Amino acid sequence: MTAAAFDSIARLVRARSGIVLTADKGYMLDTRLAPVLRRHGLSSLEGLALRLAAPGAEPLAREVTEALTTNESSFFRDGKPFEHLRQILPRLAATRPLGQRLRVWSAACSTGQEAYSAAMVLDELAPRLGGRAAEILGTDLSSEVVERARSGSFSQFEVQRGLPVQLLVKHFRQENGRWQVSPALRAMTRFEQANLLDDQRSRGTFDVIFCRNVLIYFELDTKRRVLEALAERLAPDGVLYLGGAETVLGVTDKLFPLAGERSAHVRERHLALAG
Ligand SMILES: C[S@@+](CC[C@H](N)C(=O)[O-])C[C@H]1O[C@@H](n2cnc3c(N)ncnc32)[C@H](O)[C@@H]1O
Repeated sequence: MTAAAFDSIARLVRARSGIVLTADKGYMLDTRLAPVLRRHGLSSLEGLALRLAAPGAEPLAREVTEALTTNESSFFRDGKPFEHLRQILPRLAATRPLGQRLRVWSAACSTGQEAYSAAMVLDELAPRLGGRAAEILGTDLSSEVVERARSGSFSQFEVQRGLPVQLLVKHFRQENGRWQVSPALRAMTRFEQANLLDDQRSRGTFDVIFCRNVLIYFELDTKRRVLEALAERLAPDGVLYLGGAETVLGVTDKLFPLAGERSAHVRERHLALAG
């Protein structure tokens, strides 16, 4: 692939998603874009770059960007954020009026494991949440993963990664060799295609936001912009969970790490210090 073709595809992906593709990612473009080339009858990435520059290339640009997202996920990924969620939900619920729903947002939800993990925690804690209903929103840039998340259907391999067997038995049923999430969990969750770079103000306020393992693909300014937009959507005493390799430190002062918690962040400093 020529440097010019790489640069023009990388520029397009960065403008559309925030994902930075460094020059060492040439192999990734080759493997991930091979099916796109086939679908469009193109023989090279140079041809693809030309097609992308032609008028009417919007659907192709979307397809290319989606193909270059990394959608790795698992149930209860890294454990700790979900243990922390278990601890804080009863306290958050106690400070909300009865009848107010608890709102959780899995921003960059990929195939839905994070959102369904949160739903399982909410289900488990229901007796301690004073009858408050929960609403879990999962969003992702890739319409393909959003569709898969919405279907609630997981392979044997996917459920074997991080999902305790008692939760598998309780919340899933086997169907045609796959595992289907229960109607109860699906009723708590909804999934939408959405770009973290877009305006999020119409979404209202969330008690908990997961934005895990996506900021790592962004440059500093994009991380700041996304984190500050999420901070605005977080209740003052709400909690934002980041991935193990992500931090707000040196990025924004609109969020503060919770004492003793690497991945959990709040909007207001006094809560952070109270831990
Ligand atoms: C590695 S997955 C993380 C999934 C989940 N949060 C977890 O930690 O298991 C990263 C996801 O971020 C999504 N993504 C990348 N750029 C995005 C953007 N600008 N807006 C929304 N989602 C984005 C990708 O499509 C991908 O599904």
